[in-house]
Amino acid sequence: MLACPIGRAWWPLMALLLPGGAGLAAQGGGSRAVLAHAPAVPPALARRPPGRVVVRLETREVKHQLADGVDYTAWTFGGQVPGQFIRVREGDRVEFHLDNHPDSRMPHNIDLNAVTGPGGGAAVSFTAPGHSTSFEFQARNPGLFVYHCAAVPVGMHVANGMYGLMLVEPAGGLAPARREYYLMLGEFYTDGAFGEPGARAFSWEKALAETPDYVVFNGAVGSLTGERALVASVGETVRLYVGNGGPNLTASFHISGETFDRVYLGGSSQPLTNVETVPLPPGSAAIVEFTVDVPGTYPIADHALFRAFNKGALGTLRVDGPPAPALYAGRTGDEVYLLEGATAQVLPAVRDTARGPKTVAEQVEAGRRIFSQTCQACHQSDGRGIPGSFPPLAGSDFLNADLRRAVGIVLNGLQGPVVVNGRTYNAVMPALRLTDDNVADVLTYVYSQWGNAGKVVAPALVSQIRLCPWCETGGRPPGP
Ligand code: CU
Repeated sequence: MLACPIGRAWWPLMALLLPGGAGLAAQGGGSRAVLAHAPAVPPALARRPPGRVVVRLETREVKHQLADGVDYTAWTFGGQVPGQFIRVREGDRVEFHLDNHPDSRMPHNIDLNAVTGPGGGAAVSFTAPGHSTSFEFQARNPGLFVYHCAAVPVGMHVANGMYGLMLVEPAGGLAPARREYYLMLGEFYTDGAFGEPGARAFSWEKALAETPDYVVFNGAVGSLTGERALVASVGETVRLYVGNGGPNLTASFHISGETFDRVYLGGSSQPLTNVETVPLPPGSAAIVEFTVDVPGTYPIADHALFRAFNKGALGTLRVDGPPAPALYAGRTGDEVYLLEGATAQVLPAVRDTARGPKTVAEQVEAGRRIFSQTCQACHQSDGRGIPGSFPPLAGSDFLNADLRRAVGIVLNGLQGPVVVNGRTYNAVMPALRLTDDNVADVLTYVYSQWGNAGKVVAPALVSQIRLCPWCETGGRPPGP
């Protein structure tokens, strides 16, 4: 853990020198801004002349779940990562109050990139635990802007979750959008490996080396998947407010299967059009707009793909509505997770019968190679899956309960919810074009690993199930 001699020496003094303290009442009778926790966004502002707006934001240090079973003490604006979304209008006079919860161990402040003035308000908002400070500014430039803590050590405050977005609506307002969502990417540097359970602490070494264990949307692995997926219906306009809190990595925001109609980088009034991937350096944001035309499940990702598939930067947009075969005649759901699994399609579809049956050890070795090419991206090299996205194979009650079902899933793919070790997963597993030998080997490998049941799968069984899928269930796919 890191001690911060500079910060600790300065904050009591600054708390005495700077304005604020117990007088928390709004000055001047402005209206109170409505704040929202991600992925929600405050409602659009009614068209009105600029006025006085009171924003009240609280810094809190909270126990936060980074991933399934992984706890981390996050430092927050408003109790969650990212901080609460702030929405004002161009020209508004903003009376900003920063309250630092009495239980905080650290002083905090706020640097709003929307502010014209030194440090974006950082120096004048320096707030000791149990204190409240206030300052005022005019929201002069319309656009979408990051705010963050800038108390020393600044990188650590940001890495612990202290960032959020502030929208300054242009004077004429924004065009109506049926759906608005708030997403922020951010990195976490911990003293454990990705997914390593327990209470994890900040790693100064990893932060310096810019090698995060987690790169996530909205503060946690799985924050935008399963029941928390973003939703829309065919024909609706979706507006995403997307930011990158960093602190170190430049993000490549992408939705697989959706071209963005308009992207307003930062405060630009001129959109880029027909954009596939939005570059977002740390401390930047963009308004991303598109109309959804084809139903299905769309991965939301940082297109730096190891972050998406191995560090958590993966979400889901679920679009419902009637099919649109003129635009997309294929089967939605099969194609989207093949980004890294596509090698499976080029494996030779010829069964090697010249050498006779393999030994179990040979099957395990062959299966290990197939697993690394085909399965590992989702289920991970240690078989633990990706919390919230892809179920574990290690010690899986679902896998070990029914070998024939497992064979059928590898042959035919799987869609819809399954419950594995008490948790529900709802990802798409594509049908893998593997030979009978391939299927037998990879499952024999999986059953031989990670505390699984040690079952041996014969190619003949795979062949039988391939020819007569679900025979034993009367033609119905076996249920979870
Ligand atoms: Cu802070």
